Amino acid sequence: MDAVYLDYAATSFPKPPAVAARMAEYVDRVGVNVNRSVYGPAQQAGMVVLRLRQRLCELFRLNDPTHAVLTPGNTWGLNMLLWGALKPGDHCLVSSMEHNAVMRPLQQLAQGGVEFDRVPCDREGRLDPAVLERMLRPNTRLVLIAHGSNVCGTVQDAEAIGRICAAHGVPFCLDAAQTAGHLPLDFAALGLSALSVPGHKGLMGPQGIGALLLRRDFAERLVPWANGGTGSASDTEFPPPYMPDRFEPGTPNLPGIYGWEAALEYLQSVTVERVRAHDQELTARFLGGVRGLPGVALLGPDSLEGRVGVFSLDFPGQDNAQVAFRLEEEFGILTRCGLHCAPAAHRTLGTFPRGTVRFSLGWFTTVEEVDRAVEAIGAVAKG
Ligand code: ALA
Repeated sequence: MDAVYLDYAATSFPKPPAVAARMAEYVDRVGVNVNRSVYGPAQQAGMVVLRLRQRLCELFRLNDPTHAVLTPGNTWGLNMLLWGALKPGDHCLVSSMEHNAVMRPLQQLAQGGVEFDRVPCDREGRLDPAVLERMLRPNTRLVLIAHGSNVCGTVQDAEAIGRICAAHGVPFCLDAAQTAGHLPLDFAALGLSALSVPGHKGLMGPQGIGALLLRRDFAERLVPWANGGTGSASDTEFPPPYMPDRFEPGTPNLPGIYGWEAALEYLQSVTVERVRAHDQELTARFLGGVRGLPGVALLGPDSLEGRVGVFSLDFPGQDNAQVAFRLEEEFGILTRCGLHCAPAAHRTLGTFPRGTVRFSLGWFTTVEEVDRAVEAIGAVAKG
């Protein structure tokens, strides 16, 4: 029985074929560091780093590759934002649907005197921008929102939130863990100060790399969260003032950079618009298949609008972990069950501490795989 991989929200698999090949090329045939030595191969590797930044700018419509900071992953990028932007006495607004990549650093910051509030979302995980506006305070220094929920796929109205933040002069930052590569995203049109993305989910790259895209004025105010050698400004023990070095200490993840650059080349040739259309087709099929099934409750929006292909199901009367186990054992369907590192989201959806069984789709998911999943869900729901 072939396995059906429906855990794209955790990480995308498979990767475009060129990803592994480019990573191996770096390890086997290039191997040098960048930004330090100036011999030919180092310059050529540096060009791959630059191409990756340029691709990120093209994808997210940022006009300055020096402000596409490479990170060791989305969690790291979010920590850079939170620790770099907030000091004791500052206030931060998040939604009630955040992942622990935001909530854990924020809780730790709160112990040191940072204040925060969660904008309550409805039972589908949707945030009302008007409520967010009412919760802004004179000392609000950051609004940081999960664009798409990793639990149930709800996508927030980032454009409306961006307009409100711009009107109040508050930096607006988006955690695009579940939307980057799945939805067209325009940095400037959304009024963003920062956009944090993982490399290994919708952007189809390897694990251990991500990016934090920064608006120029926001970058100037952001304090580096980690410091170290950059291969530049080596005469000083303080971080260089220029970008992106200021936020990229240490030797970068070069195998990851080569692999991610290849992944983005592939994604750009496919286009995010086509990925989105595929996601919508599969979403319609999945929702149509599970709608009304006895013994199954869908969390989050039962519509194509305002969502991506991440679905949480609850099987009332059954143990959801047991359901996930049966889905794999009897039908080869690979899902994630539990709280998905997002207890706040489950409290919002009413599924805390029970959790849900999550199914998540990607570019390489087929219609047949969705049909197999729906059939298996129907069978397992019977108990
Ligand atoms: N945050 C990822 C998930 O939701 C890993 O599974």
